[in-house]
Amino acid sequence: LSPPSWLLLLELNPVLHPLNWLLGNWESDIPGEGTFPTIKPFRYTEKLYFSHVGQPVINFMFNAFNAESKKPMHRECGFIRIQPGTNKVAFMIAQNSGLVEIEEGELTGNHLKLQTEKLARISFAKEPHVQQVKPHMPFNICQICRVFQLLPDGKLEQTVTMVTDNQPLSQHLHITYRRS
Ligand code: HEM
Repeated sequence: LSPPSWLLLLELNPVLHPLNWLLGNWESDIPGEGTFPTIKPFRYTEKLYFSHVGQPVINFMFNAFNAESKKPMHRECGFIRIQPGTNKVAFMIAQNSGLVEIEEGELTGNHLKLQTEKLARISFAKEPHVQQVKPHMPFNICQICRVFQLLPDGKLEQTVTMVTDNQPLSQHLHITYRRS
């Protein structure tokens, strides 16, 4: 469905200017690599949509597909906020696996590093679970760490590492996207 024309005319809220580089639609250029010590490596494609409606908030949707069968896989959607006048960014994320997450982190130029601030899941989410937030954990140990960065050639890169019930911090995803 194409958005109504008034939506296209809405100006970007100035609060979002530092995140301007993320806005728009992205599609993996080559299949991403999925790994974790406990799983069979896999390849996936992904489409990312970042939009706004004039509010100081970005709306996002990420849809991943099996690179070979093209079947839908992981999906996430939510909102992004930036604390005005600072480089502090928050993602509010709902995942189709039953996980709901708040990730927070810092924006440095075109580099955004996030980690889990709060984590919740439906009572019947599949195991093993991404590890619960433990308040006594040292700051540099995160449950999900995610980095978005704009590469010099204009591509976008996303890397996700995570800790689960039975695995220490390990890489789960690496993918690059081009604007679509
Ligand atoms: C497995 C979390 C994104 C595909 C897993 C596992 C966890 C997990 C906890 C189980 C690992 C184990 O068995 O030890 C997450 C989180 C994500 C994410 C927190 C986002 C932040 C994705 C994406 C894809 C994906 C984008 C792309 C298609 C898979 C596959 C497996 C897996 C294929 C192995 C089979 C399965 O357990 O379903 N993920 N995942 N995940 N994930 Fe993700």
